[in-house]
Amino acid sequence: QSDLIHIFNGVPFTTKSSATLLRSLNNFQARDDDLLLVSYPKSGTHWLAEILRQLYNTKAPNKVSITSPIEFGDVGKLEELKSIAGRRIIPTHLSYDMIPSDFKDRKCKAIYIIRNPKDTAVSLFHYYKDNPNLPTIESWHAFYNMFLNGQVVCGSWFEHILGWEEHRNEMSTLFLYYEAMKKDLPKSVRKISSFLGINLSDNEISEICKKTSFGEMKTNVERENSDPNSTVCALTTNKKLIFRKGTVGDWKQYFTPKQNRLLDEEYKAKMDSSCLAKSIVYE
Ligand code: A3P
Repeated sequence: QSDLIHIFNGVPFTTKSSATLLRSLNNFQARDDDLLLVSYPKSGTHWLAEILRQLYNTKAPNKVSITSPIEFGDVGKLEELKSIAGRRIIPTHLSYDMIPSDFKDRKCKAIYIIRNPKDTAVSLFHYYKDNPNLPTIESWHAFYNMFLNGQVVCGSWFEHILGWEEHRNEMSTLFLYYEAMKKDLPKSVRKISSFLGINLSDNEISEICKKTSFGEMKTNVERENSDPNSTVCALTTNKKLIFRKGTVGDWKQYFTPKQNRLLDEEYKAKMDSSCLAKSIVYE
């Protein structure tokens, strides 16, 4: 594909994830209180991470660290994570089968955020276009085909979800939906806090929702008010790339009727027996 991409286990990774690190992941020593923050790229990972940061800031300041994704970096990465003293919130875009087995053995908690595939594709298209760490894309049409065939970073959207769904009971996994968060954020924050065993008052919840609105997060990044260490995407140091539109349904500006039909067909074929798919809305 390009100098920026290498294939590991059949899945495209950027050179920011070294093959040596990917090979050594299974030696990773988890801790019982590790929390994995899992997503296919462009599903709202930064949003969810900020919610968690605010949530712990409210209840247990300085006790947790959000690390960079476990698959980003080189051999030194595992040592770096080991040196973190407090509770670790560890983001990852890895498929279920590549997650270090110690997380599974300890039944660690994981939160998986899902976004409808059409908006995810459009968001990833823009991310490819604007990010010097990803290959150049000729057109939306070319990108659409890559997405449909799973030839983008982190592979197929379908396989990612289905893999995590298949093993949903092996760790303790909470599934969240981007569209549901857009519709009723307080409800999702309440779900997250009860999953983590944290009690929040209605006031605290509405404060967290205010601070994690798209407008607020985008403004903070533009003002460079956000914590430079809290980026959950090591593919860019330019966090402005993350906050593009933050809406549901932007895909309608991009998908041709034919592209829409093909994705719907693929979706039906692959997701028909998926329980998670029943909660995925594309309007
Ligand atoms: P768009 O490109 O559609 O705007 P990730 O964090 O997984 O890389 O996902 C990025 C997507 O989440 C972007 O989508 C971004 O705008 C959106 N996003 C980030 N913060 C958000 C927020 N607070 N509310 C809604 N969407 C948000």
